[in-house]
Amino acid sequence: MDSKRRIAISTPSRSVDEITGSRRLRRMRKADWSRRLVQENHLTVNDLIWPIFLIDGENRREEVAAMPGVFRLTVDLAVKEAERAAALGIPALATFPNVNLALRDLTGSEILNPDNLINRATRAIKQAVPEIGVITDGALDPFTSHGHDGILRDGIIVNDETVEQVAAGAVQQAAAGADIVAPSDMMDGRIGAVRDALDAAGFQDVAIMSYATKFASAFYGPYREAIGTQGLLKGDKKTYYLDHANSDEAMREIEQDLDEGADMIMVKPGLPYLDIIRRAKDEFAVPTFAYQVSGEYAMIEAAAANGWIDGEKAMMESLMAFKRAGCDGILTYFAPRVAEILRG
Ligand code: PBG
Repeated sequence: MDSKRRIAISTPSRSVDEITGSRRLRRMRKADWSRRLVQENHLTVNDLIWPIFLIDGENRREEVAAMPGVFRLTVDLAVKEAERAAALGIPALATFPNVNLALRDLTGSEILNPDNLINRATRAIKQAVPEIGVITDGALDPFTSHGHDGILRDGIIVNDETVEQVAAGAVQQAAAGADIVAPSDMMDGRIGAVRDALDAAGFQDVAIMSYATKFASAFYGPYREAIGTQGLLKGDKKTYYLDHANSDEAMREIEQDLDEGADMIMVKPGLPYLDIIRRAKDEFAVPTFAYQVSGEYAMIEAAAANGWIDGEKAMMESLMAFKRAGCDGILTYFAPRVAEILRG
């Protein structure tokens, strides 16, 4: 090392009070009571939406391999979980079906079946637990034999035909009792088409949560195992999901979906996209939600299982981050665990 570059150690020329002008932010951090007084954001059970997976059958649950602690549930068990969620004060569930492979086809026509798995679950849950909100996913991917969110023709996901199918499926979901339909396929014009279709069928009071900014992401992996699209999907979803390098384009998607009639918007995935959440809330000031997706859940669980992080603390910190970023609520697989912790 060059000795001439060594820095001489001398007494500081200014005291800390001179440097900070007597401002010391640590004063309010000194005790639990003062930290609680100045806490800016709060996470409550009212912020939670619990995504659950459905399978056919009775009294059966299968753990999702990449999501320890998360299960695919038959409708009867989903009803039990809905009862538990309501007792915990969780406002709403979001349901995702793992559809029998024999019922999947090129156009996802099973979405039109009034008695498909998702609609049967909605009916059963709303009958047993009318006080809990049910949000249904309005995309074709659980129903298509290729795992894409749209109708596939000659290697292309066709937009307008998909929109018609999604809108018709949304009407069936509303008829089954869904309180909110959540079109997640990122086709152009889907929100307006779903709104028109719902209104024409007399479902003016059914709300739309737009997956307005859904990014092409590697964080959906475990979800695809959960609903059984993993082995089916060839290629990627880049021709319809947003490029994860883009933020302006995300704002244009939100603006368009709000113009078309979305009641609430969602950013997905969550934690890697906090900048999008903050920007969306600042620019549009509408009910804004994040989906803490399967890969985010899996990362926290895997690190915790290895003893590398404190899983419970990381879970709570990640959810507070969404609140700080401007979220009104979060779809999270952690919902029941968080609700229990918050209840004390
Ligand atoms: C597709 C859909 C996805 C998720 C929910 N609905 C993404 C995908 O499979 O491409 C992901 C949810 C998660 O990862 O937890 N309509």
